[in-house]
Amino acid sequence: RSEIESASTQPSEAAKKVKIGIYFATWWALNVVFNIYNKKVLNAYPYPWLTSTLSLACGSLMMLISWATRIAEAPKTDLEFWKSLFPVAVAHTIGHVAATVSMSKVAVSFTHIIKSGEPAFSVLVSRFILGETFPVPVYLSLVPIIGGCALAAVTELNFNMIGFMGAMISNLAFVFRNIFSKRGMKGKSVSGMNYYACLSILSLAILTPFAIAVEGPQMWAAGWQTALSQIGPQFIWWVAAQSVFYHLYNQVSYMSLDEISPLTFSIGNTMKRISVIVSSIIIFHTPVQPINALGAAIAILGTFLYSQAKQ
Ligand code: 3PG
Repeated sequence: RSEIESASTQPSEAAKKVKIGIYFATWWALNVVFNIYNKKVLNAYPYPWLTSTLSLACGSLMMLISWATRIAEAPKTDLEFWKSLFPVAVAHTIGHVAATVSMSKVAVSFTHIIKSGEPAFSVLVSRFILGETFPVPVYLSLVPIIGGCALAAVTELNFNMIGFMGAMISNLAFVFRNIFSKRGMKGKSVSGMNYYACLSILSLAILTPFAIAVEGPQMWAAGWQTALSQIGPQFIWWVAAQSVFYHLYNQVSYMSLDEISPLTFSIGNTMKRISVIVSSIIIFHTPVQPINALGAAIAILGTFLYSQAKQ
């Protein structure tokens, strides 16, 4: 009987693995493309509050069109749903804009090296704010994560305080986003794709007034002319690409969150950062010193040890 059972469960297990593998590969590829176009845009047009807003606006529009044309089924939501989504959206907005501000000031690789320290923030927030304790190996794994990030930061050739702090704030905000997200999704029947769509719409509403206050239409218009004259019409395509790919990679990541545990998700996220770090160093010819690369490698190794210890 067990043979029959295993024969009938094996193909679906294998199919699930293939499906998750496809999700992961798509997620990382979309993320690499987003990071490249986002940085190309920020180099020519240093208005991270606007580019963050455009990413959310583009995603919101894509999903509203998908719902209106029934390409995707619109979720059934109530006031309770939007109320529980609100803290998630505040954290998502802060994490997103802080990471984009960071990338406008430093190399993409540097932002992502610091962002690979997110598990350390997760443990510290859980310990000191939620009072959750972990086995000793989990705490020990924080040593290479924090030490590696610190080594990479102090040896970074283009160190910039705003760039560093932006990535740190993004880490903290995304830890809260993940905690609130888990609480908010509990018992709700909204799919990962629609959950992320609603998150984009609410985040867009939160971010827009702040983006206008911090940067504003006058700066945007003047900078736009300069960027267009320097880069040419393809600048508009870069902006479109960074906006579309931002939505797509996040949508795929939330879709995969439906299928996998948060732990597998965080391992996937760290592996994603390796592909972003390596590809952005190659594409933007980022100068890297051996000691700097060593710091990044130690931090990433620490994240793997963390995931092992948490298991
Ligand atoms: C953003 O702009 O929101 C960040 O690049 C997101 O970072 P992450 O999705 O890689 O954590």
